Amino acid sequence: MTTSIRPLIAGNWKMNGTSASVPELVAIGKAFTHGFDVQVDALICPPATLVARAHDVLSSTPVRVGGQDCAITQSGAHTGDISAEMLKDAGAGFVIVGHSERRTDHGETNEIVQKKALAAWRAGLTAIICIGETQSQREKSLTLDVLTAQIEGSVPQGATASNTVIAYEPVWAIGTGLTPTLPDVAAAHAHIRSELSRHLGEGFETIRILYGGSVKPSNAQELLSVQNVNGALVGGASLKASDFVGIAEACRPA
Ligand code: PGA
Repeated sequence: MTTSIRPLIAGNWKMNGTSASVPELVAIGKAFTHGFDVQVDALICPPATLVARAHDVLSSTPVRVGGQDCAITQSGAHTGDISAEMLKDAGAGFVIVGHSERRTDHGETNEIVQKKALAAWRAGLTAIICIGETQSQREKSLTLDVLTAQIEGSVPQGATASNTVIAYEPVWAIGTGLTPTLPDVAAAHAHIRSELSRHLGEGFETIRILYGGSVKPSNAQELLSVQNVNGALVGGASLKASDFVGIAEACRPA
């Protein structure tokens, strides 16, 4: 972890959570408020139906709230879509864009993801732009090329540490219990850092690059200690307050 960058531990609840999950949000908020001395930012991205509830529960705590996707436009005839402005209005400060599940399930291309990042900025949200290779791309040794193309295509010019977070999520590591080796994580994150520099020219040095894919309390410390890993995007393990907090605690300096 680059010491000058404050890590971000972001929970992606995906399509999980109803009003029955509110006590879990309360527990997360409490854990980060009382006696939590680790220098880390925490964020929970619940399903859109819970963003306002999460904001109500967490606004008096250090834990921020985000959405999992946003539409490109601000409003209009787009049944079922939710705009970045609506998420902001409900209390979100962040929105995930280009998660591999959206890229796969909804055919989202780099171009669409870039437009969604711009929509997030327009609404005053920080965009968490997800990139990562599939298993077959990895087997063909295309990982770094895929990351380059996704950065070029998905990250808009003007990205800075205050409006953008990058999440590196190898698709084959999401929800599988598998993780890349630490040298592979280091190589991917170093490559992302240098490609951000090439693509953006400036403003890239402090953009947070999260690792995502099967992060849990038992592997968080080693993953978060890799250079250029500035936090984690956590799926399954973010649904339980104790696991989520355990991952954030792994950011405590050794
Ligand atoms: P996982 O999901 O932690 O359950 O692997 C990560 C993600 O998809 O953001």
